[in-house]
Amino acid sequence: MARRKKVYEGKAKILYEGPEPGTLVQYFKDDTIAFNSQKHEVIEGKGVLNNRLSEFFMDGLNGIGVPTHFIRRLNMREQLIRAVEIIPLEVVVRNRAAGSLAKRLGLEEGTVLPRPIVEFYLKDDALGNPMVTEEHIAAFGWAGQQDLDDMVALALRCNDFLGGVFMGVGIRLVDFRIEIGRIWDGDYQRLVVADEISPDNCRLWDIKTGEKLDKDVFRQDLGSLADAYSELARRLGVLPKMSTPITKPTLIN
Ligand code: TMP
Repeated sequence: MARRKKVYEGKAKILYEGPEPGTLVQYFKDDTIAFNSQKHEVIEGKGVLNNRLSEFFMDGLNGIGVPTHFIRRLNMREQLIRAVEIIPLEVVVRNRAAGSLAKRLGLEEGTVLPRPIVEFYLKDDALGNPMVTEEHIAAFGWAGQQDLDDMVALALRCNDFLGGVFMGVGIRLVDFRIEIGRIWDGDYQRLVVADEISPDNCRLWDIKTGEKLDKDVFRQDLGSLADAYSELARRLGVLPKMSTPITKPTLIN
C-alpha cells in the first residue's frame, strides 16, 4: 500500500495530502505543548478529544454560515479539511482579562472587558508569536485592509457562537485564538476559519466554580488535562455515551 504524503507537521497536528485536490487530512496528535515548546507532554487521548471537539465547533459554525475549512471527521484522530492558504496571524478574541493581557495591562484575572477585544499575533515561533498592530499587518503585507475587516468580523461571529454554546453548558468563554485561511475561487478569495477550535486554544472557566477546563490546566499544573477535556466533551454532548475517561481505548470510535 502506498504511504500517504505528509504535507506539514506542527506541534499538535499533522497534515497529509487529501483524497481529492484541494483537500487535506488533519491528524490530531496527543502532544501537548506550552510556553513556546518549553513544556511538552504526551497526554493520551487528547488528540481524540480535540478532533471531536473541533468537529463539533467547526460544524456548528458552518451550520450558521460562518465558513470554516472543516468538511467531515474521518476517524478518531483525523478529519478531512479544505486546503487553505493560512494567513500568518493568530487572531485572539478576549471577553475577560486573563493570560498575557492581564499581565501586560496589570488587570486582575477575570475582569470583564468593556467589549470583546480582537488582537493579532504574528505566527512566528522563533519570535515567540509577538503581538502586532493593524499598522504592522498592512505595512508588512501579511493581510490587506479588506482581509483585516473580514478577520475581525469572522472572529467576532465565532465569539458570539462559541460564547453562546459554552454559556449553555455553564462555561464562561474567557478568550480564544483562531487561525484564518484563504480559499481561492478563480481570481476571488474568501476567508475561512482554519486550524482547530479546541480547549487547547481557549480559556474556559466553569461559571459556578471557576474551575478551568482548558489548556491552562496543563500550563499551570492544575490537574489532569484529559479529565478537564473529557468533562468539557461530556457537557457538550460530544461523547454522550462516555462514562469512563477517554484514555481507555475502548471508548473511542
Ligand atoms: P494569551 O493570554 O497567552 O495571549 O492567550 C490568549 C488566548 O490564545 C488563550 O485562549 C490561549 C490562546 N493561545 C493559543 O492558542 N496559542 C498560543 O500559542 C498562545 C500564546 C495562546
